[in-house]
Amino acid sequence: MRQRMFLPIYFLILLFDLSKGVDEKPSLYNYAGCVISGMQDADFNMGYDNTPIKDDFKGTIATFQTKDVYGVEISGTNYFNATLESDTLRIFTTDEYKNVEPEIGYDPFPEIKFQLDLQCIKGNISLRFVQPLTDVNNHDPYFEKEIYEYIYVQNSLPSNHQLTDNQSLSAFDIDMTNNRLSFSIEENDYFSIDTASTDSTTRQTFTTLTSLKDIEAPSTIKLNLSATVSICLIL
Ligand SMILES: *[C@@H]1O[C@H](CO)[C@@H](O)[C@H](O)[C@H]1NC(C)=O
Ligand SMILES: *[C@@H]1O[C@H](CO)[C@@H](O)[C@H](O)[C@H]1NC(C)=O
Ligand SMILES: *[C@@H]1O[C@H](CO)[C@@H](O)[C@H](O)[C@H]1NC(C)=O
Ligand SMILES: *[C@@H]1O[C@H](CO)[C@@H](O)[C@H](O)[C@H]1NC(C)=O
Repeated sequence: MRQRMFLPIYFLILLFDLSKGVDEKPSLYNYAGCVISGMQDADFNMGYDNTPIKDDFKGTIATFQTKDVYGVEISGTNYFNATLESDTLRIFTTDEYKNVEPEIGYDPFPEIKFQLDLQCIKGNISLRFVQPLTDVNNHDPYFEKEIYEYIYVQNSLPSNHQLTDNQSLSAFDIDMTNNRLSFSIEENDYFSIDTASTDSTTRQTFTTLTSLKDIEAPSTIKLNLSATVSICLIL
């Protein structure tokens, strides 16, 4: 009779925590040996997103308490400047910021990116800073010309003729996001007005003027037009 043998088996379980075994690579931030309160490694790797400021803002956009930072240089923008005074890093608007519109161009989500180079105790480190802007509707729309003259040397102007086919009529709004305009004409029997199209690169909105009936010569018609901003809410 064969006896069954039970061999005792031992499991030796060896678990290695790989993350502990390997020396953690020091981040650039740690390596530079400085501290900027409120900033993490991710901010140095991915860029720091500040809270939005209005496009007509003036003053300090951010301050950070620092330790072992000896100098700061800013590059890539003339809208902001940075100083380091008694361990406080301060970023603020320059005079040029008041021209951010129309310089920055039309953008539904405007932001300004720049770089801060920090001199730290053990080395230098740079930070990409992203400053989002919110548009304040602080510019009135204006027409390309003050007076538009449509002169026809003919016996009559037919009904349903588009004056604006002969000479385009447009208005601008230089606010960064509020680029849609609507037009109105004073009450009259001769012409109707419609908003045609907006060119978002030039922020120019074109309109059409259409005759409502036959107009016999001689005739001189003067009408006032106005352009209004229609704010487009993006939700
Ligand atoms: C930035 O601020 C520093 C300190 O106030 C000043 O010396 C420097 O001229 C400023 N730079 C610009 C471009 O305004
Ligand atoms: C850090 O930056 C300063 C100023 O730009 C420069 O003089 C210095 O040599 C830099 N140090 C290192 C370690 O790169
Ligand atoms: C206006 O446009 C029409 C069609 O393009 C043209 O026939 C006519 O001569 C133009 N009139 C004037 C005054 O420019
Ligand atoms: C049209 O505009 C002119 C100039 O602003 C003004 O003097 C005139 O009263 C206006 N006419 C009407 C009918 O609103």
